[in-house]
Amino acid sequence: LLSEQGCFIKGSKGNHFTPNCPVFINDTSKFPQSMILFKKADELIKWLDIQRQNEKTVGFVPTMGALHAGHMSLLKESKKENAITVCSIFVNPTQFNDPADFKKYPITVEADIEMLENSGCDVVFLPGVNEIYPGGIAAETKKYDLGHLEILLEGKYRPGHFQGVCLVVDKLLSIVNPDILYLGQKDYQQCMVISRLLHLTGKAKSIIIRICPTLRENNGLAMSSRNMRLSETERINAGIIYKCLLQLKTKLVPGRDLLLLKQAAERNLADAGFRTDYVEVADATTLAPVSDWDGKQQLVALIAAFLNEVRLIDNMIITE
Ligand code: PAF
Repeated sequence: LLSEQGCFIKGSKGNHFTPNCPVFINDTSKFPQSMILFKKADELIKWLDIQRQNEKTVGFVPTMGALHAGHMSLLKESKKENAITVCSIFVNPTQFNDPADFKKYPITVEADIEMLENSGCDVVFLPGVNEIYPGGIAAETKKYDLGHLEILLEGKYRPGHFQGVCLVVDKLLSIVNPDILYLGQKDYQQCMVISRLLHLTGKAKSIIIRICPTLRENNGLAMSSRNMRLSETERINAGIIYKCLLQLKTKLVPGRDLLLLKQAAERNLADAGFRTDYVEVADATTLAPVSDWDGKQQLVALIAAFLNEVRLIDNMIITE
């Protein structure tokens, strides 16, 4: 499955390896229920061009794998709105500011492919690092002007992270060229960064972004690939993040000292064994931190905190 050449056509009739992928291009009748797996960008581009000539719209769900119900909800949205849904799985090395985090990122490709097939995904793009960065990572010098988004919250605590996200998303979008791009609200700041990327690159003219709601476990824990690294007890404890967000939402009234509310959340997180990067209440459209709420401005509360080695993020729109 992980070979650099060719691709698999996976479907109810079994797995079919094609050395250089020409078979399925005009032959989907042979595998009507199939999901097609591409490892090569140029082959995916060719295939998608043919679909577009047939007036088919394309929805795109970019992922780093370790798929869960949250990803599946994005896929479901895409399937509702598009003739073709493409999902990419690529653990992008350039967006990890911490090499240990990259090393430990969960990889569950076989299970991911099965989930995608069961959810009716049409195409999986599973490139290797050389396919995305053919000249090597060191040769990638492009910089994106992300303004203040790069220096606050995730930008501050994960230097270089959003440049890496932009680098890979820019490349993936140039390959897939979707009509609609599906992103999860759990990565609130990433959604803003990618929206800015589309404007910076002119892609906003042809690509619509759909931000889909965060899916949660029963205790409120936001679904995330990183949750796979939590023990059963840690998963239970991690529900505190959602509780803190809810408390911020319910206790916020105009004129009330926001600093005290944020400090209370930090104390609750520390009591549950978390090391907090930030608890912030910010303007929902600019992410500028807010200290006094006038009762009108739309706000978002955001939390990033470590439970042992695992860094979790979550957010909630608190004034709707
Ligand atoms: O959110 C993610 O999984 C990643 O940051 C993305 C958008 C797939 C880029 O690697």
